[in-house]
Amino acid sequence: MVVLLLGAPGSGKGTIANYLKNHNFFHLSSGDLFRKIMHQNSQLAQEVKKNILAGKLVSDDLTNAMVKNELLSIKNNNLVLDGYPRNVNQAKFLVKLIKIDYVFDLVGQEQQNIKRILGRRICPICQSIYNIYFKKPKKENHCDYDDAILIKRDDDNEQTIKKRFNEYQKFNLPLVEFYQAKKIYQKINNDNLQYVINQIDKFLKIK
Ligand code: AP5
Ligand code: MG
Repeated sequence: MVVLLLGAPGSGKGTIANYLKNHNFFHLSSGDLFRKIMHQNSQLAQEVKKNILAGKLVSDDLTNAMVKNELLSIKNNNLVLDGYPRNVNQAKFLVKLIKIDYVFDLVGQEQQNIKRILGRRICPICQSIYNIYFKKPKKENHCDYDDAILIKRDDDNEQTIKKRFNEYQKFNLPLVEFYQAKKIYQKINNDNLQYVINQIDKFLKIK
């Protein structure tokens, strides 16, 4: 089963993908892959970093090639795609690679998403996602699983967040219409995390 998560920055894509990981899904996050690349020492890393810090999408050619390469190495039949595709161009590319069963769009208020992003902390080792307001780790600022010191993402500052939302607004509606036409699209209100999980459980028949 292939599940795709759409939603604005901070809408909960990574959080839900991590939940599905506990139910035997492989988590493919284009953002996580780019963050790995951007910390390397190469020209490609510079290019990716420039876009991420400016809150802009990385080029479709680079993104599509990276995702295609990653998909080729995945053995798990259950897959959750988080943050890819981001526009119709990428969605059309993906059609040629894989059949999607469900598209869940996590929708909520922008101010709420921004507060969540500003409070987010992540584990640099296992990518677990925490929040200083909504999901505190057991030991302050340390990952529950590997005790690593939690970090803030480089693009989680107010200036870049604004640009990420602009970029999202530019490309999202045509993408939603693309998946609505395929009748695999489900919008889920993201105000309450347990509600989102209950909805996903219902569609995917997770008990
Ligand atoms: P990406 O990493 O995909 O970032 P994003 O889309 O901005 O989304 P976020 O990761 O910020 O939010 P999320 O929806 O995962 O929320 P989370 O679960 O963490 O992309 C980063 C950059 O990479 C892009 O700007 C672009 O440059 C590049 N890129 C990536 N993909 C690309 C592509 N396909 N093409 C081109 N460029 C690409 O939750 C946020 C916080 O809220 C957490 O702290 C969490 O604990 C909390 N939380 C979540 N849900 C709830 C809830 N319901 N209630 C309370 N708290 C909640
Ligand atoms: Mg994310």
